[in-house]
Order: sequence, then structure tokens, then C-alpha cells
Amino acid sequence: MTANPLAPAWLRLPDDANELAATVWPRNAVRSESGEVVLAGVSASDLVARFGTPLYVMDEDDALSRAAEVLSAFDSAFGAVATTAHVYYAGKAFLSTEIARWMTAAGLNIDVCSGGELAVALAAGVDPARLGFHGNNKSLAEIDRGVAVGVGAIVLDSVVEVERVAAAAERHGRVQPVRLRINSGVHASTHEFLATAHEDQKFGVPLADAPAIVAQIRSHASLRFLGLHSHIGSQIFESDGFAEAARRLLVVHAQLLAGGEVPELNLGGGFGIAYTTQHDPLSPRDLALGMAQILERECRAGGVPVPRISVEPGRAIAGPSTFTLYKVGTVKQVLLDGDASRTYVAVDGGMSDNVRPALYDADYSCALAGRISEATPTLARVVGKHCESGDIVVKDEFLPSDIRAGDLLAVPVTGAYCRSLSSQYNHVPRPPVVAVRGGAAREIVRRETIEDLLALDVD
Ligand SMILES: Cc1ncc(COP(=O)(O)O)c(C=O)c1O
Repeated sequence: MTANPLAPAWLRLPDDANELAATVWPRNAVRSESGEVVLAGVSASDLVARFGTPLYVMDEDDALSRAAEVLSAFDSAFGAVATTAHVYYAGKAFLSTEIARWMTAAGLNIDVCSGGELAVALAAGVDPARLGFHGNNKSLAEIDRGVAVGVGAIVLDSVVEVERVAAAAERHGRVQPVRLRINSGVHASTHEFLATAHEDQKFGVPLADAPAIVAQIRSHASLRFLGLHSHIGSQIFESDGFAEAARRLLVVHAQLLAGGEVPELNLGGGFGIAYTTQHDPLSPRDLALGMAQILERECRAGGVPVPRISVEPGRAIAGPSTFTLYKVGTVKQVLLDGDASRTYVAVDGGMSDNVRPALYDADYSCALAGRISEATPTLARVVGKHCESGDIVVKDEFLPSDIRAGDLLAVPVTGAYCRSLSSQYNHVPRPPVVAVRGGAAREIVRRETIEDLLALDVD
């Protein structure tokens, strides 16, 4: 078969379209002898019979093992340079009370960035001291709640927040630990990073303003300054961007030490993962080792002790653990100019359960989940059921040409920023999240119902 000219360069024609590539499927996903996708002993058809489609299916052991791997990678890499590392799970990737319990039981802290995420973590029974509270525009009520319950750190995102958090801490008779988010001018994404004097975005304060703002923080007895914070972007595959941000931040970190303690440095999240075979992420171990070496080198050069480090990965923990199961509804062959053609496969979900392709032009892959097929692979585009032509789930994938209505289709790596960015667009109820472990499946977030959709209408 000749390659379809519409296929992107990175997408190779598969030798076997039924294969589950280890780089993108949850660790406990296999194909059974009958050809079904089976996760931790539970088959796709059993999951669908019990919970319906669309369905987020989460490999519990996969998520837990990734959390443990990140923690142990950072513990050992930073232990080797005579400091410690704190890992916060970035709850924005996907948060529910169950996930919050898994992450804290695994030894991670949790980052929240709204009053809603804070409420979920508290409802899960997470010790507030293990929470970091982000947000570029926290409301006064959110700040008050965070301080009142005793969150371990509030990340100040602007100079006005210094006074707002200090006032809340005074009201509650507390000393509130704070970090200061810096707009370092470094922006990283995939294999490249941009470094400028100023980055044109809404988060943080300019590095040059940090000494004055930290002096202002230190002037309040109700605040305790922990250190500088920087998050340089997402889907980062190299440590160079972190290196540049760390180098810039450490210059100011060293100056700040002259005026008081600066126990830590937070380098944010953004560790890259494979969404398709085009991505080749660093292991947490290599990333942590790279970051520890950089930090140690820069601290030695600056003559300052290596601070405690904190990081905030989200997608690297939750993303690869999950696939979404859909049912195929319609299949269309669309002929384009020349001889080119593409098969449009429409499924029973779409941009309401995964907006990343529409929002970020994100690539995904997919495979038949209910059977295997020996039919010739054809270039397909998986689309949703919403009233938008940008409602695309998988832009480009080779799928067996006999794909048909009723087939189950699974899209892997949907554990991060899918459920958390989901919507009720077109009043399509949001799918449940099912956790699978040791041959048992259970809902950790239930499916929305039509009653849920109507529940907010006042009349
Ligand atoms: C401040 C901050 N920390 C951590 C993260 C987590 O990023 P990722 O899920 O890519 O690791 C984000 C993502 O937007 C962020 O804004």
C-alpha cells in the first residue's frame, strides 16, 4: 500500500494496526486472545456493558507506579546533591477525591489552583499542610479559605496578593508560608525553549521585581517566604529549559539569601509524555538527574547551598494511565482533491470529553478495542458528535479499513486535561471515570445524567 499524502510525516504505516504500542498504552493494557483490549484483567466489552460509552478507563496501578517513580527519582537525584525534593501532583491535570487520596498515600503533595480544587482535596481528607495553592487571580474568599484551613504554601502571583494574603493570615492569627511565582522569560515546549528578557503572558512577576516584592513579604510577620517559583510550560522533553530557568532564578535566590532564609526553589511541572509514537520523553529518573546536576552546578558557581527543590508534574503521572473508550457511530469516506481520501470515523463523545485537539492541536492515537482486524490500514480521522468542525478526537491514525458502526475504539493517554477540561457542550453528559485494578473495575467519578444537566436550570 502506498502512503497517503494526507498523513503527517511522523505517522508511519503500521505493520500491525492491532498492536498496542507500549509507549502510549497503560502499563496493564494487553490484547486478549480474542482480540479485545483488556486492562488489568477487565475487558473492554465488560467495561462497556457495565458503564457504557464514552468512558474514561484508568489503570490505577499505572497512575500509582508513575507517582512512586517520580517521587523516588527526585528523592534519589536530589539526595545525591545533599538536599531534598518535594513532589506536588498538579491537580489541574485530573482531580477527584479518590485521586487526591492515591497521590497523598503515595507520598506526594498536591497543587490546587482554585477554591473548587481546594474543596476536592479537603473533602478527600488531605492534610492542608500538604497543599500548594496556585492561581493568577485568586479571589479574596479563596485566599481566606486557603489561609483559614492552613494550606502549606500559597503561590503569590502578583504584588497585590502580598497584601491580600498577609491580611488574611493576620485575621486568622497564622503565619502563612508563601512562594513567589516568577515570569522568568523562559518558555519551553517540546524540544525547544525560548529565552527572552520578558515573556508575554499573565503568570508571575518579573524576576527583576522579585527583591522588592520579597522585602515586602518579609516585612509582614504573618508571612513566611519559602522561595521562588517558576513553571516554564508543558510537554517539555529536554532539561535545557529547566536549566535556563534555574540559572536565572538562582542569581536572585542568592541575593535574597542576604536578607533572610530561602529554603526552597520550585521548578514547576511540564514533564513531557508520549501521546503518540512521535514523542520520546525522558524518564523521570533522567529528568531528575539532569535537574539535580544543573542545580548543584549553578549553586556551586554562585556559592550558595543547594536549596530544597519542589516540582509539580501533572500529566506525567495521570496522563498515560487512562484511555477513553468510545463507540463508533458513523463512518464516512471523504474524497479530497487529487486521489487523496480520508476516512471519517465518528464516535459518541468528542470535544466535550477531550478538548485538547481543538484547543492545542494535540495529537493522539487510537485502536480498535473490541476486536482485531486484518483489513488493510486506512488513514482515518476520529471525530466527535458535536456541532463544530474542529470537534476532532484523533487527527490522523491508520485504522483497519473495515472499521464500522458499533466498533469500540480506544484513545490512550487521556488521563490528564481531558476530564478536567471537559464540558457539557451540546448538553452531552460527561463520561464517568472508572478505575481498574486486579480484575476489578469501579467508578471513581460517576456519569453525568440528563437530570444533572437540568439541575441548574432555575425554573
Ligand atoms: C504552575 C503549574 N504547575 C504545574 C503544572 C502541571 O503541568 P503538567 O501537567 O504539564 O506537568 C502546570 C500546568 O499548567 C502549571 O501551570
